[in-house]
Amino acid sequence: MFEDYGNLKYFLVPAIIVGTIKLTILGLSTVSLIADFLLPATNYTKYGSKKGAWALVTGSSDGLGLEFSKQLAAKGFNIVLASRTQSKLEALATEINEKYGVETKIVAVDVTKPGADEEIFTAIKSLPVAVLVNNVGRSHSIPVPFAETDLEELEGIITINTTFTLKLTRLVVPVINDTAAKLKVKGLIVTMGSFGGLLPTPYLAVYSGSKAFLQNWSVSLAAELPNVDVEFVLSYLVTSSMSKIKRTSFMIPNPKNFVKATLSKLGRRNGAQERFATTTPYWSHALMHFGIDQTVGVYSKVANSLNYSMHKDIRRRALRKAERQKKAL
Ligand SMILES: NC(=O)c1ccc[n+]([C@@H]2O[C@H](COP(=O)([O-])OP(=O)(O)OC[C@H]3O[C@@H](n4cnc5c(N)ncnc54)[C@H](OP(=O)(O)O)[C@@H]3O)[C@@H](O)[C@H]2O)c1
Ligand SMILES: *[C@@H]1O[C@H](CO)[C@@H](O)[C@H](O)[C@H]1NC(C)=O
Ligand SMILES: *[C@@H]1O[C@H](CO)[C@@H](O)[C@H](O)[C@H]1NC(C)=O
Ligand SMILES: *[C@@H]1O[C@H](CO)[C@@H](O)[C@H](O)[C@H]1NC(C)=O
Ligand SMILES: *[C@@H]1O[C@H](CO)[C@@H](O)[C@H](O)[C@H]1NC(C)=O
Repeated sequence: MFEDYGNLKYFLVPAIIVGTIKLTILGLSTVSLIADFLLPATNYTKYGSKKGAWALVTGSSDGLGLEFSKQLAAKGFNIVLASRTQSKLEALATEINEKYGVETKIVAVDVTKPGADEEIFTAIKSLPVAVLVNNVGRSHSIPVPFAETDLEELEGIITINTTFTLKLTRLVVPVINDTAAKLKVKGLIVTMGSFGGLLPTPYLAVYSGSKAFLQNWSVSLAAELPNVDVEFVLSYLVTSSMSKIKRTSFMIPNPKNFVKATLSKLGRRNGAQERFATTTPYWSHALMHFGIDQTVGVYSKVANSLNYSMHKDIRRRALRKAERQKKAL
């Protein structure tokens, strides 16, 4: 009995020490998470708003990109809009110009086409661009086993989500850096990530890998550019044509509210407490991210299995719906 107690002591003391350290870290992270939400909103004059600086937004005619464009214009940035559909871009440019009194420029371009990065660069190189929002993205049309992924879809996702984003940023960094020096402001590069990259996601394997790639690329870049703030934004589902979700819920905001949360808290980590230069800005997504980190962890088998079941089920329902639509024709 006493001998057992004696041995136990050797475990108990380190266990208490480790436990105390872990609880202290959890406590501090929780305080930091709450503080991030209570601190005042980010001020954009430091990035040149109302001083003539421009913001370039990719995938700007719909969803999150449309909201980034409008809300940055409302803060006083001139806006370059880039996506495929000329008519949508023209309508949005007119709306932004009239509503917010800022200048606009449009570039109608398919970013999967070779040279798309240079085309956008040519349009912006003489403008004082201080902000780049890497928003354009593509996911699988429905969840699919990796080995059955359509090759065009695979290449599209990789081209849009990684190659294009990297090539455009490489061209735009010197422009932003110059603007920062000329206008005596800081530059800003925001890249849209996803919980699909935060958690390895079976049946969305290519998308998941592409977003995880962007995470480490973005954070690496953050350390290299002292005059430019580089931020990676993590999001769970948002209503949009990409997510094919129309109804909002407490876990699923609309693009307007998601972007509002993102811009008001940029520069803080919110739900991404363990990551540098990364934010999970929407409150319910932040709680989910924080919760997963503090429990099973993003790379655990538990998270992976739950996710596998979830996406297998989405695929089953999507296939059934496609079948019904085929019959109805
Ligand atoms: N919605 C979500 O649940 C969710 C969750 C996590 C992360 N995200 C990320 O957020 C970003 C925006 O997603 P979203 O849901 O807002 O998408 P969305 O509503 O489908 O909008 C996509 C935008 O990109 C443009 N676009 C699409 N393909 C293009 C191409 N090949 N070349 C040029 N422009 C193109 C579209 O305009 P045109 O059709 O006119 O080209 C549109 O303006 C993506 O990076 C996505 O991965 C979304
Ligand atoms: C950015 O500008 C600073 C000077 O303002 C310069 O020292 C630095 O090399 C530039 N970096 C890039 C990547 O252009
Ligand atoms: C499953 O994957 C999606 C990304 O597609 C992610 O948003 C979600 O948090 C994951 N769920 C779980 C339970 O891991
Ligand atoms: C591509 O990137 C967008 C955001 O940039 C994301 O929403 C989408 O899920 C990504 N798709 C893949 C397949 O990685
Ligand atoms: C980024 O790289 C580090 C190792 O260098 C790894 O631990 C981390 O999980 C990576 N992030 C993502 C999202 O894959």
